[in-house]
Order: sequence, then structure tokens, then C-alpha cells
Amino acid sequence: MECTLEAVKADIIRLLKKAASDRNSPMHTPVVATADADARIMVLREFDPNTWTLRFHTDARAPKVEVLEKDAAVGVLFYDKAEKVQIRCRGTARIESETPLAEQAWQESSAFARRCYLGAPPGEKRDNPSSGLPEWVEGERPTEEQLEPARENFAVLLVTLESVDWYYLSTDGHRRAVFDDGKCRWLTP
Ligand SMILES: Cc1cc2nc3c(=O)[nH]c(=O)nc-3n(C[C@H](O)[C@H](O)[C@H](O)COP(=O)(O)O)c2cc1C
Repeated sequence: MECTLEAVKADIIRLLKKAASDRNSPMHTPVVATADADARIMVLREFDPNTWTLRFHTDARAPKVEVLEKDAAVGVLFYDKAEKVQIRCRGTARIESETPLAEQAWQESSAFARRCYLGAPPGEKRDNPSSGLPEWVEGERPTEEQLEPARENFAVLLVTLESVDWYYLSTDGHRRAVFDDGKCRWLTP
């Protein structure tokens, strides 16, 4: 890769687009951290390079949603060993469950993906190991009609990126640049 700031910006866009579209990319499942010092793996569903926004899907009842509603600061961490690149993002989150975007994301999800939202809220206590799903749907593909009550538990988590820190590992010397406020600048690794 040519080592210019323009090339770094293009590389970030290339990697985040690939992360969203290629389920085999290690960047498809980044770590998403919230202001309560908690972090979890989430599947990246989309990256919009025009608005620098990431889209994730979540259960609207998940503990992270309550945390995000109090403090919208989010960190998203990506690493691809083969690409030798780490991408560290800071951004601001918003949760949407009733907007056209949330509805479209719901419609585009498979029945098996939507089945997750039929169950109990994430994090409920159980005496025995449990999927949280009702017994009738365990191992089954639910019908559209059966999925209707799940819709209200589904939300999209949108993270608008404010800074993106790109770190490239190289035996010739690592390289690091940060992209924020519409500008890209070099940093020491
Ligand atoms: C490979 C993998 C992918 C996951 N994808 C998602 C996801 O897209 N959305 C999500 O809310 N949780 C996802 N999870 C579960 C989260 O890591 C987390 O356990 C769950 O969302 C509850 O998080 P919370 O207690 O912080 O709300 C995934 C877990 C794994 C291991």
C-alpha cells in the first residue's frame, strides 16, 4: 500500500466495507465497548462511508441499550491479522427501533436471525442452561406470523464515527494515522 494519508483513508473505507459485507473477514465481528467499561462482540451489518456510520443489530431489551441511552459514547475495535491492521474507532451511538431503517433491517434479516428476538431478554437469571427461546421454536424455523411479536424487541444500533485510528504492523516500522474532524494525520505507533 502506498503510504500517504489519502491511502490510509481509502484503506479504512475498504476494510470497513469488507468487514460489513464479508462474513469471513475477522473485522466482521468487532468488539463494541460502552461507557460502563463493558465490551462485547457484535456483527457489523453495514458501514456507510458517506456518513461514517456503522450499523449493528441488538435486542432492544439488552443491558447495553440502557447504558447507551444514558451515555452514547462507544468504542469499536477491529483487528485483521492477515491485513496486519488494527482499527480503533470512537463514536456516538443511537438506538432506533421504529424508524424505516430499523424496519428495513428487520425485513432483510433471515427468519433464524429474527428468531433470537422471540426469547427472554438477554441477561436474565436461570437455574439451568437456557437459550431463553420458547420451547416450541427451539431448532425450528419460525413462520412470519410467529415472528410478529419478536419485532418490538429488535433495534438497530448506529454508531457515527468521530475518530478512526489506523495502525499498520510492519517489520519496516509500524505506521499509525488518525482520521478525525475530516482530517487525517500521522502519529507515532
Ligand atoms: C460471534 C458473536 C456475534 C455476536 N453478535 C451480536 C450482535 O450482532 N448483536 C448483539 O446484540 N449481540 C451479539 N453477540 C452477543 C454479545 O456479544 C453480547 O453477549 C450480548 O449482546 C449481550 O450484551 P450486553 O449484555 O452487553 O447487552 C454476539 C456474540 C458473539 C460471540
